[in-house]
Amino acid sequence: MWLKQLNIENCRLIDKWAIELSDSVNLVIGGNAAGKSSLLEAVSILASGRSFRTPRIREVIRNGTEQLTVTGRVHDDALQSEYPIGISKTLKNTRIRINHADVNQQAELSSHLPLTVIHPDTITLLTGSPGQRRALLDWVAFYRNKDFHQDWKNYQRVLKQRNSCLRDPQQRYALQYWTEQLVKLQPRIHHFREDALQAIIEALDNLKFLFKQQGSLVLKLYNGFPAQVKLNDETQLSAFYASKQEQESDQGMTLYGCHRGDLNMLFDGLPVAQFASRGQLKMFGIALLLAQSEAITTKDTKRGIIAIDDLASELDSDNQDLLYQVLKQTRQQLIVTGTRPPEGGFLPKHGKMFHVEHGRIDDIKM
Ligand SMILES: Nc1ncnc2c1ncn2[C@@H]1O[C@H](COP(=O)(O)OP(=O)(O)O)[C@@H](O)[C@H]1O
Ligand SMILES: [Mg+2]
Repeated sequence: MWLKQLNIENCRLIDKWAIELSDSVNLVIGGNAAGKSSLLEAVSILASGRSFRTPRIREVIRNGTEQLTVTGRVHDDALQSEYPIGISKTLKNTRIRINHADVNQQAELSSHLPLTVIHPDTITLLTGSPGQRRALLDWVAFYRNKDFHQDWKNYQRVLKQRNSCLRDPQQRYALQYWTEQLVKLQPRIHHFREDALQAIIEALDNLKFLFKQQGSLVLKLYNGFPAQVKLNDETQLSAFYASKQEQESDQGMTLYGCHRGDLNMLFDGLPVAQFASRGQLKMFGIALLLAQSEAITTKDTKRGIIAIDDLASELDSDNQDLLYQVLKQTRQQLIVTGTRPPEGGFLPKHGKMFHVEHGRIDDIKM
């Protein structure tokens, strides 16, 4: 799947933009505050209902207006067909239409536009809280296993119920029931994540030369329990939760389980976040996200979309060259922003270049 056409209304400084994209490389070039990141935010909203820069839609809706709208046409490589897709957001409502039908769930959008965004804060994937790393795995699991999303939603629901039981003595009678439900879901979620990690590791193998002179990266899944606890053994898991009941009710929340899992990353045997340089972290983060994009590209989606905001930021020219070499070979649709175009030779014949200026976008005829 790739995005053939994009229309944006009232997204940050963007009043009204309409562009036709190439299925290969799209370069978006402009100075500071021209609207480059805003354009990618609009793509992100179309692909997931959310901006990659903020959870608060209020910040994204253009000042003085009430409704942000992003629409587009998706090209389906498997079916060789095209259809419209769109989302409107006000402070109170979200309205989604896919192929002329109303849709309730934002997650539906993602199955039509498998988007990976790489932006200047990407290194927080390595240095930040585990939530981002779980999201990386869960995103891949979402595309690879049809059952994942339902299990994941159940997990969130069961966790919430169990936490209420831990917090409120009057609800304590139901604790055992919710613990049993949570115990059943642990090996399922973990299994989906293992499969996702395997796919990421395989994809990463082809991207090794992005950091090969710098050492080797090993990824390990942590399941949210002490090592001796076996997730497949329901009796042992229930007994473990029973042994932690006092601690968990003191804190009023479930302290063990997949929601506390993580993806540990070791670089030459040491935790990446502590020992790698900023430049290395940046390259690892980019490699991980490129691997994620590869891993979500399944038989159904055929290819995905990679959006890179401000590609050159914090990368020296050697690393930029390495990255351009990898990107040249990808089958994914690319939307790359920057303050100046890359050195000659990167843009393929049928690629496109856009120039943005405060509030305006022009298709540069090549
Ligand atoms: N909600 C908004 N309404 C109008 N303008 C906004 C809004 N949010 C941000 N902006 C403006 O958009 C510009 C930033 O655009 P951005 O896409 O980040 O630029 P670039 O990535 O090209 O540097 C800034 O000038 C900022 O003031
Ligand atoms: Mg920007």
